[in-house]
Amino acid sequence: MAHARITGVGSYLPETILSNEDLEAMVETSHEWIVTRTGIRERRLAHPDEATSDLAAEAARRALADASITPGDLDLIVVGTSSPDKIFPSTACLVAAKIGARCPALDAMAACTSFVYALHHATSAIESGRAARVLVVGADALTRHVDFTDRATCVLFGDGAGAFVVEAGDEPGVLGIDLGADGTRADVLEIPACGSAMPASEEVLANRLQFIKMNGQEVFKFAVRVIPESVRRALAASGMTTEDLDWLVPHQANQRILDTVADRLGVAHERVFSNIATTGNTSAASIPLAVDALYTGRNLHPGSVVALVGFGAGLTWGSVIVRWTKEAR
Ligand code: UT7
Repeated sequence: MAHARITGVGSYLPETILSNEDLEAMVETSHEWIVTRTGIRERRLAHPDEATSDLAAEAARRALADASITPGDLDLIVVGTSSPDKIFPSTACLVAAKIGARCPALDAMAACTSFVYALHHATSAIESGRAARVLVVGADALTRHVDFTDRATCVLFGDGAGAFVVEAGDEPGVLGIDLGADGTRADVLEIPACGSAMPASEEVLANRLQFIKMNGQEVFKFAVRVIPESVRRALAASGMTTEDLDWLVPHQANQRILDTVADRLGVAHERVFSNIATTGNTSAASIPLAVDALYTGRNLHPGSVVALVGFGAGLTWGSVIVRWTKEAR
């Protein structure tokens, strides 16, 4: 069986910064509340001319350059996103056109877990022998779906994209994977309208149902339970324990979630990657953005073991254990 390994990494953050002070002018909140409750100081906003596919394409170009391959070498593109440019065509098709690829392209939609699901698709395609070079992107412009009059959600989200090139090889780079979904809890975090269940209408707009609605406390409790469980299952599938981990890279949603899962897993806080202060919650982009920051910061070396773990609407969750095989950039 062929093994999947990560051969390229890239990411992209839009230029515009939205600070906590900017938000203070928009809703009844404070820098102090946001930092204390979430750890977030600022986040990025996509330019009005930028859609999710633009963020994704830039991250993809950087990952392809890092892997020293061309778009024509790709067998498959999987874009994890829950803020597609349009209902159809898929964002992956739009990314393919932007980077100049003609291979099969599809979206994986699992909210903030989308990148982990997309990486699972890529790994399965490689291990089955149906693909040898796959581009996996996590990209979201969730601020387009945020209600900037709702202080409970508008302080959390930011825009961005990250990408991996995953290639077939003799050496295993992607080890154990654990994925799950509990659709009975769909109403905990959702965008109620503008899909087939509730098409856009004047009533929808009047009730602001086109925006993200979230029961924050329920998502918090779910995250701090499911992350340790899922990471432990993925580690067991890899024949490993938390002792083997060099880095834990959780989806960046709230610094208090990161601290709690570190304690519950018994992983030192300095081994739990965090860039939430400057990115906010970038949804599907947060894990590849984090990995690119670790890699660019020369914190990943051949043999490093990293647990990537996502959670989000669905409710969904997923963990992937990665053995790093690239030299530091
Ligand atoms: O990708 C997955 C997406 N989501 C998540 O991971 C979210 C997980 N949940 C969380 O991160 C936290 O639940 C939040 C950050 C969303 C909220 O923090 P919390 O500590 O759970 O606050 P809370 O909802 O219990 O609200 C406490 C108080 C409330 O006021 P009262 O009722 O005590 O008077 C809120 O109205 O804080 C108030 N509040 C705010 N105050 C100032 C809520 N949002 C804000 C705000 N600024 N932005």
